[in-house]
Amino acid sequence: MNNEDHMSSAAPHTGQMFRIQRLSALEILDSRGRPTVQATCLLADGCDGTASIPSGASTGAAEALELRDGDPRRFRGLGCRQAVAHVNDTLDRALSGQAFPTQAALDQALRQLDGTANKARLGANAILPVSLAFARAASRRQGRPLHDYFAELRGTRSPTLPRPAINLFSGGKHAGSQSPLQDVLVVPVTARTMAEALAMIFEVYQCAAELCAKQYGMRLLRADEGGLAPPFASAGAMLDDAVAAIRAAGFKAGEDVSLAVDVAATHFHQRDGYHLGPRVLDSHQMIDQLERWVERYPVVSVEDGLAEEDWEYWPRLRARLAGRALTVGDDLLCTNPARISRAIQIGAADTLLLKVNQIGTVTEALEACQLARSAGWRVTISARSGETEDDWLADLAVGWAGDQIKIGSITQSERLSKYNRLLEIQAATGWPLVPWPGRAKLDEL
Ligand code: PGA
Ligand code: ZN
Repeated sequence: MNNEDHMSSAAPHTGQMFRIQRLSALEILDSRGRPTVQATCLLADGCDGTASIPSGASTGAAEALELRDGDPRRFRGLGCRQAVAHVNDTLDRALSGQAFPTQAALDQALRQLDGTANKARLGANAILPVSLAFARAASRRQGRPLHDYFAELRGTRSPTLPRPAINLFSGGKHAGSQSPLQDVLVVPVTARTMAEALAMIFEVYQCAAELCAKQYGMRLLRADEGGLAPPFASAGAMLDDAVAAIRAAGFKAGEDVSLAVDVAATHFHQRDGYHLGPRVLDSHQMIDQLERWVERYPVVSVEDGLAEEDWEYWPRLRARLAGRALTVGDDLLCTNPARISRAIQIGAADTLLLKVNQIGTVTEALEACQLARSAGWRVTISARSGETEDDWLADLAVGWAGDQIKIGSITQSERLSKYNRLLEIQAATGWPLVPWPGRAKLDEL
């Protein structure tokens, strides 16, 4: 990226210490009404930061552990009182009074206190909210916006905002599994700013809602991330309807607005293959099917086209899509540096889907991001299907120069808090969206 401002190690904010005075946490509810954790980090000089974390439904097997109480009489076992207690007791006792020069030092201490590879002892839902609350407190102490704090962690400031990929239709685990394809998203490729992108998508969403009301004759029900979820006859019908909505909104499909899909194939993969439709597909046939979608529809990004353990076939998928669509790994990679390294070695993907709670600290997520970048990959920063109204994701996506951001639809406040924060950042900085490379350029990866 041209215009990048490399922050030198002589940056004015280095050399400070952040002394923790108190860590505390609270069980709050996410957008599905399930418990999650909000933590507050109070620094000794009086600056504080509060952050809450999201939770997935379509989760990868290699994700960091989300500690749930397991008491079936309370929130069907999903309570987070143990994770909250780990912040209020274990972490507060161990870390209060201690000074940390950097985010990395704090995150290292959190990992050591947990002592497991996947945060199984304290829970990623105890560790991550503290990591993020510290980031917010530290950015306040430095008197800088949170996105700038995240940019400094990366060492580079990119004066751009990520391009949004916005949920239009949902199936799979985010809706009633009426179609196995989890999400069809729209990418406003010609939009130059976040404000322009959202105005374009509003039109497409309204047209999609009208089209569905006509076609399916029903009041529209929304999926977890706000996508429309009528009873599609097939995955192909979702894509047909998405193209129809783009056209009805007066845009050229594939020129003004393109499509992205999150296939989330792990969740319909069984021993005998992929249960995408009436016929069970083997990995070869699944790749053929994905390629047909990319040929037939303006699909520029394919996430989790294959199952998370179908490693052998991922490089073939990437090779088949190269130059036409991004091959994005979510469940495959789980924001996990070890899995990303393996994928880089064998050429299994060209885009990292980054979800901070898959790995459990800010520093490890940054490591995953940098690793992907070092291989020339793109990075899509993503929310989860169970979100809170916290907006740190917007700052993180700007600070770490995400190419895309995936937050969900533009209909629910837990999503809009992030879109609206992006609008605030746009207004404060004047930064445009990252230019869209265009299909032809995708093969330069
Ligand atoms: P999740 O879904 O948050 O339910 O895992 C999001 C995605 O699959 O990208
Ligand atoms: Zn996904």
